[in-house]
Amino acid sequence: MYRTHTCGELRLSDINKQVTLAGWIQRTRKMGGMTFVDLRDRYGITQLVFNEEINTELCDKANKLGREFVIQINGEVRERYNKNSQISTGDIEIIVNDLNILNAANTPPFTIEDNTDGGDDIRMKYRYLDLRRNSVRSNMELRHKMTIEVRKYLDELGFLEVETPILIGSTPEGARDFVVPSRMNPGQFYALPQSPQLFKQLLMVSGFDRYFQIAKCFRDEDLRADRQPEFTQIDCEMSFVDQEDVISTFEGMAKHLFKSIRGIEINDSFQRISWADAMKYYGSDKPDLRFDMKFVELMDIMKGHGFPVFDNAAFVGGICASGAASYTRKQLDALTDFVKRPQIGAKGMVYARVEADGSVKSSVDKFFSQDVLQQMKNAFEAQPGDLILILSGDDVMKTRKQLCELRLEVGSQLGLRDKDNFVCLWVVDFPLFEWDEESGRFMAMHHPFTSPKPEDIHLLDSDPGAVRANAYDMVINGVEVGGGSIRIYDSELQNKMFKLLGFTEEKAQEQFGFLMDAFKFGAPPHGGLAYGLDRWVSLFAGLDSIRDCIAFPKNNSGRDVMTDAPSALDPSQLDELNLIIDIKE
Ligand code: AMO
Repeated sequence: MYRTHTCGELRLSDINKQVTLAGWIQRTRKMGGMTFVDLRDRYGITQLVFNEEINTELCDKANKLGREFVIQINGEVRERYNKNSQISTGDIEIIVNDLNILNAANTPPFTIEDNTDGGDDIRMKYRYLDLRRNSVRSNMELRHKMTIEVRKYLDELGFLEVETPILIGSTPEGARDFVVPSRMNPGQFYALPQSPQLFKQLLMVSGFDRYFQIAKCFRDEDLRADRQPEFTQIDCEMSFVDQEDVISTFEGMAKHLFKSIRGIEINDSFQRISWADAMKYYGSDKPDLRFDMKFVELMDIMKGHGFPVFDNAAFVGGICASGAASYTRKQLDALTDFVKRPQIGAKGMVYARVEADGSVKSSVDKFFSQDVLQQMKNAFEAQPGDLILILSGDDVMKTRKQLCELRLEVGSQLGLRDKDNFVCLWVVDFPLFEWDEESGRFMAMHHPFTSPKPEDIHLLDSDPGAVRANAYDMVINGVEVGGGSIRIYDSELQNKMFKLLGFTEEKAQEQFGFLMDAFKFGAPPHGGLAYGLDRWVSLFAGLDSIRDCIAFPKNNSGRDVMTDAPSALDPSQLDELNLIIDIKE
């Protein structure tokens, strides 16, 4: 038997027991004639003691142990003299009488400690060592618990877990596909699923009624802290439902996860905000509502007073930061630099402080009378001690997005974005289409299978941009944790959608003919949603990047630096695939 107990298991009640433990050496300390060894496994750390006076040979052997050696010991549990309340086994130690080195180890390239000395790159290259660290492993444990709770919740409601294929045709979710060449079909390629969207809809046509899958999805898009090229969805679909049914089922799942994982009971229904209001008041379709700081539009008040920046702008608006009038000139300059960064792209920022006597002092006082500044103050309902920050621009949506970045930055600076405070909401009434400047045509905002709101269907031909969708996103603390929609289940309407999205009949038939056909064999009304599992775990663990809750993630260039993928193919493999590589400059 390799072990009788784990390294996190022994307590005072085990004193005098003979035990066998196995694990990794966390560290060794020599103090006088004693050698102390911390033995680690997934469950914890147990202190081992070797005494030179009692067994010199054994102690010598222990002194030669290096970090991360794998050993097995036999010994007696004893009460510890210097108790360590930081660890669960801190009341005991093991007086070792037998030591078996199971495997020696090279010195690890970074310390396997909570506060490691290893930078990102080296930890990713040796990810299997990084995963030995408590902080990283605990994220994986949390992820495991969450998937178990998800399965419990959905099973209880009669959802069937069904796997769908990975080698498929293209699914349009708005990103680029990853593709896989087919050896048996020369010159042809599979696409990896951006989501199981089409398959789950087909499962509804098959009468499965309630489907879910913890599904790997693949999207070739620019990476960010909350995006990986390969990520996991909790993907769901239901038949004979409307938007309210889907929202209530998945709000229920969210509440179940909050309760079972974080011990947070949420009784109230989640807030709902229309997409139009989210954009108008927060400049984002995923507003962080842990704090209010709503946008106030100032076109009526601030235009026409001779300040050319505002006079020529299509949007003038701002936020009011309560109690932030004490911001120094240096802090305000730093905020101006923040909004002027190329990623944000504002031209400048105007600020105004509300003084103790209620008067307003602004950075553009020479253009505005105190009377106008007072009107502005009243528009914000600003109080003495408040700071008003204003942006303007010639593109309304772009300026709103810039103001959103400013709002989030100020919120962070004022400590209003506490990671342990969760505010959940639904964003609803998304537009069905969004205009794509680059291609000069409408694109589906969610995906082409999303149903328009019945009351807006009459606008499909005359004013497609005004048609709202039966689509919804769940947002927590400014993170889109999930999204879905009620689907089109009528082949005629679906054909019309494809046409509006610029698909020719042939192209639509080629890409989605099977779905159109399926809709002709009795498709039930259906709808669903997919949660981003990685994002949920990151939120619950308070992580800054979803990478930290993925066992083997990709880096920002989409590389797996551990296995060194992607990599060039062997010429013989290329040959088998009938491929010739000719890389464009
Ligand atoms: P959507 O594209 O909104 O919808 O994706 C659903 C959720 O998946 C997560 N997500 C990601 N997580 C990590 N890295 C990524 N690159 C990434 N992309 C998306 C987000 C997002 O809310 N088929 C539809 C769902 C449906 O309509 O039922 C879909 O995939 O949390």
